[in-house]
Amino acid sequence: MKKVLEIGGVPVTRLAQKYGTPLYIYDENQLRNQCQKYKQNFLDDVFSTEVLYASKAFSCIGMLKLIKEEGLSVDVVSLGELATAIQAGVSCSHIYFHGNNKTPEEIQYALDHDVCHFFVDNQQEAMLLKTMAKNSKKTLYVMLRINPCIEAHTHEYIQTANIDSKFGISLYLEEEIVRLIKEIQSSPFMIFEGFHSHIGSQIFEKEAFEKEIETMFSFIARMEERGISCSKLDLGGGFAIHYTDHDQPIPVEQICKVILSACRHQQILHKTHVDTILIEPGRSIAGEAGSTLYTIGFSKTTPHKRYLFVDGGMSDNIRPCLYQAQYDADVATNMEAVKDQEVCVAGKCCESGDILIPNIKLQAFDSNDLLIVYSTGAYGFSMFNNYNRNLRPAVVFVKDGKSSLVVKRETIEDLLKGDVR
Ligand SMILES: Cc1ncc(COP(=O)(O)O)c(C=O)c1O
Repeated sequence: MKKVLEIGGVPVTRLAQKYGTPLYIYDENQLRNQCQKYKQNFLDDVFSTEVLYASKAFSCIGMLKLIKEEGLSVDVVSLGELATAIQAGVSCSHIYFHGNNKTPEEIQYALDHDVCHFFVDNQQEAMLLKTMAKNSKKTLYVMLRINPCIEAHTHEYIQTANIDSKFGISLYLEEEIVRLIKEIQSSPFMIFEGFHSHIGSQIFEKEAFEKEIETMFSFIARMEERGISCSKLDLGGGFAIHYTDHDQPIPVEQICKVILSACRHQQILHKTHVDTILIEPGRSIAGEAGSTLYTIGFSKTTPHKRYLFVDGGMSDNIRPCLYQAQYDADVATNMEAVKDQEVCVAGKCCESGDILIPNIKLQAFDSNDLLIVYSTGAYGFSMFNNYNRNLRPAVVFVKDGKSSLVVKRETIEDLLKGDVR
């Protein structure tokens, strides 16, 4: 009898039968534990603290209800993410609106729903917000996104703070920043609260975060000298997770300690007056709790490779194509066999680049066995695309031997409903 993988106490064969494949599977206890780890460890005697879940990592009503139940706030970057948070019942005072090019429609939607926390990314956005807040007579709490100009050691597509980054205002532009804050402060409808920075994603080195903190506190000290007071500092997300055995992420407990202790140290050093520290983990909340289940289809051998084809690919997980992301996998219906089959796991999309795992040793498999790819919980579902008009897989949460459907599998009717006939 071949050993079948269980997630959350449910055999994956049962999940495949009930929901079909490809299937995004989340271990609900693991999601909740990650939230609790952040809640319990990101606490401090000196600073007030707030943890925002970066919902771009994985957003749907079921996930944001869970986030709300666990007591985290939510950051959103688009109308869709905003509407999802609102529909999930996240209180408007716990929604923070990010984005480098928010449209008037998005801003109006936020104002109409009393969302009041905005991260301003640039000068023009500040002016637009000022006008729209005045017209709506709504008071906005504003933090300014600063580019701290730190190059984190991660793939260039997930670096966000190099000198030419599209995000935020360079911290070297002090005159411009002061002018912008004064502009914000001149509005009776805008309250300037502080600064935001985010240095990238999947970052392993604690030194990168310490550098960010040192840079931001010294910048805040210079701002205070110019008469700008800053009560809040948001340090973004970016905490690495385990994809393969090459990855050794810093545990959540430790990264929280590193951040808070560096903030305390820098506050004393620079004699600044920050009272609240915020962070925005996305990947590290959703990533490891999620896996993708595929059915193995055909396989073929070429002069230098043996391909294993699955019934999904770059439409349900674009990350390997986008930035050479690496994953681990198992034949979920033959867990105890030795992993001696060297294969290239490829998807079914019409692109030669549609390779999920270029080279991996797996257990013996046949057509119709199931393949599980681990740690796909962040930026998998949320980056889904309909290339080749593939249908979006379902999402399920599993917990204590039970599964619940969180997002239905897309149907042909769903796919075609916007097409004008
Ligand atoms: C502003 C901001 N905050 C938070 C995040 C979340 O990053 P991660 O999922 O790596 O924690 C991102 C990701 O790009 C971001 O741009």
